[in-house]
Amino acid sequence: MTDTAKLILEGKTYDLPIVVGTENEKAIDITRLRQDTGFVTMDSGLANTGSCKSGVTFIDGEKGILRFRGYPIEELAAKSTFVETAYLVVYGELPKATQLKKFSNLLNASSLIHEDMTHFFFGFPRDAHPMGILSTMVASLSTFYPAPEDLTEDMENQLVANLISQVRTISAMSYKKSIGEPVVYPSIKLKYVENFLNMMFSSPVKDYVQDPDIVHAVETFLILHADHEQNCSTSTVRMVGSSLANIYSVVSSGVCALWGRRHGGANQEVITMLEHIRDSGAKPAEFVERAKNRAERLMGFGHRVYKAYDPRAKILKEICHKLLAKPGMTDPCFDIAMELEAIAMKDPYFLERNLYPNVDFYSGLILKAAAIPYDMFTVLFAIGRTPGWLAQWREMTHSEDFRLARPRQIYTGPNERHYLDMKDRK
Ligand code: ACO
Repeated sequence: MTDTAKLILEGKTYDLPIVVGTENEKAIDITRLRQDTGFVTMDSGLANTGSCKSGVTFIDGEKGILRFRGYPIEELAAKSTFVETAYLVVYGELPKATQLKKFSNLLNASSLIHEDMTHFFFGFPRDAHPMGILSTMVASLSTFYPAPEDLTEDMENQLVANLISQVRTISAMSYKKSIGEPVVYPSIKLKYVENFLNMMFSSPVKDYVQDPDIVHAVETFLILHADHEQNCSTSTVRMVGSSLANIYSVVSSGVCALWGRRHGGANQEVITMLEHIRDSGAKPAEFVERAKNRAERLMGFGHRVYKAYDPRAKILKEICHKLLAKPGMTDPCFDIAMELEAIAMKDPYFLERNLYPNVDFYSGLILKAAAIPYDMFTVLFAIGRTPGWLAQWREMTHSEDFRLARPRQIYTGPNERHYLDMKDRK
């Protein structure tokens, strides 16, 4: 195959290099386009733009494939832990036993936040959304744990550990504050997910009894969310990180982007939708019709990249089946979700547009079963995605072609005009 593409513009021919990835993904490199031709490209929503080269995650949206560092998500979900997957995503290889132990110890040692920061929680209104609190607190970490401009490897490892560990602590603390209970500190005796659940649900007057099925379900949820290549929040992380802003501000910007309901906020919206259908007595088929008529959006359906069943949704649906079959854990919302899926998957509207369940369709049901409050759903997503943000930030800042991200535009505003005094304005 030729390694250049020919572009004919205003009668002149330009050769543009073709870049091919390890999975044979192809791109036309337009780095010199404006310089050579005076033209820029337009790509609304950046759906056709490769903004970087990355070795972290591979997605084939047409075939429903997702791999972290080459490892299929199905294998990681079945065999790995969140901490091990975080190591893999950030550092590129599965850790050996000693490396995992060291990483785990570092996470444990980094899990407290400066005690003075616990006072910040008192300043937020009781009903503040925890994503707002999380982004603020993560940005505030920079004032307590300043990162020097020139990072040594050890310092970088420490920052990675601080964020993976402290995002979890802050999340649990923000929940405790929102319900007016004293914060629970992380414990060296507990593993990552157990620690989080304990910080969320134990109190001085009540121990939290861990259910291994819940721990497994939350662990899997976090593994599946660890990275997803250049999605909205990760692109935000790369954009902000390209200015060489400190890593806490960078991750905080990722949290803000994730919050939106077309991105990470969708998992909360799915449960709201399912409960609305349950409580209103509406038939799932009627709801699907309303979605087709644009009166509603079928939340948890559709994806910018997956034009097949989201492989993460498949795994989570399976977990839902097992978890919600346990005595006392059945949930009519799961039945509604499966009915919605069955109807949509036979309907030409969804089939023609390749709209399949995405990760958020079943993830909320799992978090609901784990008693995670709805407005904490996206926070759990942020905990899971933190290793991915850090991996992408590391990869970008270490890459040879690292540059400030600064897209162009096509200006469509008024042409030059002159300032009018107030009396002359119509
Ligand atoms: N329900 C009904 N119709 C939909 C849905 C949906 N959930 N999603 C897309 N469509 C329709 C659109 O109306 C459009 O129809 P048209 O061609 O007749 O105008 C067509 O499908 C294409 O949709 P776009 O919005 O152009 O697709 P895009 O790739 O921009 O959006 C997105 C993807 C934002 C995820 C969208 O499918 C959506 O809003 N889904 C619901 C929200 C959601 O679940 N978000 C989570 C995504 S996964 C994640 O971020 C972790």
